[in-house]
Amino acid sequence: AAGSSLLLPIALQHRGYAQTAGSPQPRRFQVKLPLPPVLNPVRSDATTDYYQIEMQKNQVEILPGLTTEIWAYNSITPGPTIKQRRDRQSVVRFINNVGTPTSVHLHGMASLPQYDGYAEDLIPPGYYKNYIYPNNRAATMWYHDHAIHDTARNVYMGLAGMYIVQDDLELGLPLPKGEYDVPLVIQDKLFTNNGSFIFDHDNHQGLMGDVILVNGAPYPRMEVANRKYRFRVLNASNSRSYRLALSTGDDLIVIGTDGGLMSAPVRTKDLRIGMGERYELIVDFSKYSIGTQILLQNLGLPNNKDYDGTRQILRFDVVRQETDNSSIPSQLRSFQPLVASSAVATRRWTFEHRNDRWEINGNGWDKNRVDARIGLGNTEIWEIITNGRDWFHPVHFHLFDFQILERSSQPPLPYERGWKDVVYLGEDNNIRIIARFGPHNGKYMMHCHNTVHEDHDMMTQFEVGSGGADPMSAPAKPLPA
Ligand code: C2O
Ligand code: CU
Repeated sequence: AAGSSLLLPIALQHRGYAQTAGSPQPRRFQVKLPLPPVLNPVRSDATTDYYQIEMQKNQVEILPGLTTEIWAYNSITPGPTIKQRRDRQSVVRFINNVGTPTSVHLHGMASLPQYDGYAEDLIPPGYYKNYIYPNNRAATMWYHDHAIHDTARNVYMGLAGMYIVQDDLELGLPLPKGEYDVPLVIQDKLFTNNGSFIFDHDNHQGLMGDVILVNGAPYPRMEVANRKYRFRVLNASNSRSYRLALSTGDDLIVIGTDGGLMSAPVRTKDLRIGMGERYELIVDFSKYSIGTQILLQNLGLPNNKDYDGTRQILRFDVVRQETDNSSIPSQLRSFQPLVASSAVATRRWTFEHRNDRWEINGNGWDKNRVDARIGLGNTEIWEIITNGRDWFHPVHFHLFDFQILERSSQPPLPYERGWKDVVYLGEDNNIRIIARFGPHNGKYMMHCHNTVHEDHDMMTQFEVGSGGADPMSAPAKPLPA
């Protein structure tokens, strides 16, 4: 018989939890979708908004009736959303009171090396660091922990939040705005019977949860009007990728990728989103009558351990009638394709499992080794390959955005034809990307965004130009006593 340790406490069964071999499974679609609050600056001047975020532990209710310890940004997970205008600078003071060394990376921002959340540039407990972000393009980004060899645990425990930059061009388009522009942070978790997160540092494959959280709530429900909504979807899971689809079989309309709006909307029935990726979608609820329930489902992907719970993500309940003044322009933003003939070099990066660890070109992380030196402003083609069927690797590069030229000799998927900073390297895939390296000099990391792979040890660094700031040159400072 399945051991009695698997039996759920009676109190939980009474609260409607199903008996399973894994995490306590709450009733689906009971909890309302929470929205992370937008963070107010502590002060502003002509050019800059100053924010403050404290990392600390907190006890919260995620599974109804149970308490979970989280590692939080300002006491919540996901942390507060920072919303900023393009070309206004942000200075964010991250205060470390979480009891373990941390480093904060703003994923998607071309920050100077010393503000990029370099994995070795740790904020010790009791210290703080002011990170400076230029906000030089409009996109959906996220900030998350990047501490060397502990990123997976720290992100899993809760250290992740959304960061959205908007510009005049985007705000001038008739797309859904305000309350109709909604972030969706998707994560999978494992829980003990008493509600604690389970994280196993010795499992180097990855972490596959059996409960799906959206914006920190399990299988939530969102009440919508019968109109269009814009969703900014972030996969902030450690190791799980998703193939998103609506239960009605209707289209998802993709308008944005990691690097912001695409040139034109792309319709798709399903959308693959790897860890670290962002896609912006329009869902048009206007064809559904009041009372309709529509599921955002996960159709699953190879090498993702699927559970019953991981097939369902979120339910939209169409509850009210509203007039919709928004529309989806056929042209969103101009997009200059980078042409292969402009590349001055081609490099190859192989992602594989060897010697009991995850490697890039046969190596693990070494802060004293730089694996590529690229002239500032040069265009290069990078081939990203894997030679095994054992895993997929969403590969992320700091500093620059790229375009996908080819995926296993085929053109990229239609919804991948925008600016990207993560590319899903599937089993046996062979990908060619092209990028112009900049906007500034410095050493930056690249790694698999399966954060468990990243920690063990699928991460390296490249250097653009020369004379860039040392990533360790703006160390954290102790908090005043
Ligand atoms: Cu989202 Cu180097 O990370
Ligand atoms: Cu990987």
